[in-house]
Amino acid sequence: MHADIVVLPGDGIGPEVTAAAGEVLRAVAQRYGHRFRFEEHLIGGAAIDATGEPLPAATLRAASSADAVLLGAVGGPKWSDPKATVRPEQGLLAIRKALGLYANLRPVKPHAAALGASPIKPHLLQGVDLMVVRELTGGIYFGRKQRSAGPGGNVTASDLCEYSVDEIGRVVRHACRLAVQRSGRLTSVDKANVLETSRLWREVATQVVRDEFPEVTLEHQLVDSMAMHLLAKPREYDVIVTENMFGDILTDEASMLAGSLGLLPSASLGEGRIGLYEPIHGSAPDIAGKGVANPYAAILSAALLLRHSLGLEAEAACVEQAVAAALDTGRLTADLAGRQAAIGTRAATAAVIEQLQLPCQVPELRD
Ligand code: NAD
Ligand code: IPM
Ligand code: MN
Repeated sequence: MHADIVVLPGDGIGPEVTAAAGEVLRAVAQRYGHRFRFEEHLIGGAAIDATGEPLPAATLRAASSADAVLLGAVGGPKWSDPKATVRPEQGLLAIRKALGLYANLRPVKPHAAALGASPIKPHLLQGVDLMVVRELTGGIYFGRKQRSAGPGGNVTASDLCEYSVDEIGRVVRHACRLAVQRSGRLTSVDKANVLETSRLWREVATQVVRDEFPEVTLEHQLVDSMAMHLLAKPREYDVIVTENMFGDILTDEASMLAGSLGLLPSASLGEGRIGLYEPIHGSAPDIAGKGVANPYAAILSAALLLRHSLGLEAEAACVEQAVAAALDTGRLTADLAGRQAAIGTRAATAAVIEQLQLPCQVPELRD
């Protein structure tokens, strides 16, 4: 097949990990006879430096007409002055919104070889296989933001959190479709004891499941206790659906089940075929430019790209198997290695590509 892939390296370790994922996609194309055309564009701090804007029109134009978008990370100390009016993160939010990517899938499946990197006891991690569906284009991220001067110069800031029935319904339906393909269990996370948006969320989730997915078992969980349960009994959850900010926070927490932020990929999807694929981690300014960043999250994001935007399920599974095999053979980056010898970004990428050349057991395609 032929596919046009737009690559947005961004800032910090973004360029290092997208280069790794790009190399893996090239290896997939060569091995399985596909033609992928890559086009790189600016986003985030790099785009601000070059054009003054975090999401230049040329980037959005290219992304809109591509088959898929692969993104590294944006942001960093250079652009993080709280008084700045233009920020790298605005570019990321804007591209998600402009492409209508409201469902952000963040799978969390700890791998045996990385269990040592997790602060959680290994026996709690066996069999953990979560799919967090984070709402991505609404909520407090996108509501009106303002500052006003109160009496006596007491400045007040506010961020409005808004959700509509339609916004909640579509992401809950997405999560339900995934739940049906998995164990049929869905946990909806909210803060309905305090927030009006959460009470609407809970109402809509209940109704969607009752009316449209009777085969799904829905459980509601408050976000504060969920943060605890996620670490105490992660095996008891399967598909988790939640609003934008709760999903952001819970998935960085969930990365500790896998052992590192550097292992968690994501797929941002909407109604169309186009998707945006990015690791859940940030630009990691503390390690940027050192060649030590873990590329596996970005490579696993490329696998999700193959699966969700290109329909290449077998190739996606082979990339996932190759990453698993690289971990199995002890190819651990510094975030995973502990006292063992660590390898750098390039060696980890090479290990995955080496595994990709070996026979891959193609799983049964799921419909
Ligand atoms: P971060 O995710 O960048 O880093 C947190 C910690 O995890 C750091 O110690 C970092 O070294 C480590 N880490 C992250 N990815 C790693 C990898 N692949 N391999 C090894 N270690 C890794 O979070 P932060 O430090 O809070 O944020 C830094 C910047 O990144 C901020 O500007 C933030 O806005 C931005 N950010 C961007 C995205 C994105 O573009 N999707 C996501 C999160 C944060
Ligand atoms: C993520 C990041 C972003 C978010 C930031 C950088 C805007 O933390 O993708 O998880 O909060 O969505
Ligand atoms: Mn985040």
